[in-house]
Amino acid sequence: MRTPYIAGNWKMNMTPSAGAAFAAALAKAVKEAEADVKLMIAPPFVTIPAVVEATKGSSIIVAAQNMADHTSGAYTGEVAPDMLLDLDVKTVILGHSERRTYYKESDEYINGKVKLALEKNMDIVLCIGETLEERESGKLEEVLSRQIEKGLSSVREEEMCKITLAYEPVWAIGTGRTASPEDAESAHAFIRQTVKNLFNSAIAENLIIQYGGSVNASNIKALMAKEDIDGALVGGASLSVEKFLPIVTFDK
Ligand code: PGA
Repeated sequence: MRTPYIAGNWKMNMTPSAGAAFAAALAKAVKEAEADVKLMIAPPFVTIPAVVEATKGSSIIVAAQNMADHTSGAYTGEVAPDMLLDLDVKTVILGHSERRTYYKESDEYINGKVKLALEKNMDIVLCIGETLEERESGKLEEVLSRQIEKGLSSVREEEMCKITLAYEPVWAIGTGRTASPEDAESAHAFIRQTVKNLFNSAIAENLIIQYGGSVNASNIKALMAKEDIDGALVGGASLSVEKFLPIVTFDK
């Protein structure tokens, strides 16, 4: 049995004070609703300390949206894993399509961060997904297998319990256009099969694969009903308690 894993990626939203107020309200609502999923939120770096403080005593995991590929030194503007760990942040999202597209992060570069995060014993949500052009030209499987193979290059079997994959078709992110549950399921099944070929069936069976891309209160149930969809990585709808809570409590 894979425990459902719902995550909120705040992207570049929420100042420290707004984030703290929001996180406190979310923690309260989640507790009252007795949500029994694994729940993570990923604020911007500077908002993290306030959110860590506001969620103390709750089961909410606070994660980073990204991190540096080096441990320390002359890397202006970057945030090292030890800085996150010092705040008690042990989870990091890596390879989000916005990082890949706008900041030109390659599979090899992302793999460097994956390996560093693993060295630091951190949990990772590794994002993968195709563009519309890639999907329409029949390259879906080629793109996903490349992102998985390169992203997880030299990751050891025993480290795979630290990895969650998030399938986020780029054309569905922030567009209001969700992949149909059937299309999402077929990509998820392919992802699980690819991980099975790379590692083994036990690792593939235990792997949590989140879906991301315009997830909301109306589509979460149908997505989560699919066999290989184990959670969601939510952007826009994670920015208000009213929109996010029904996603977190989808099985209630
Ligand atoms: P969205 O973003 O839910 O706003 O589409 C998802 C994501 O990019 O993680």
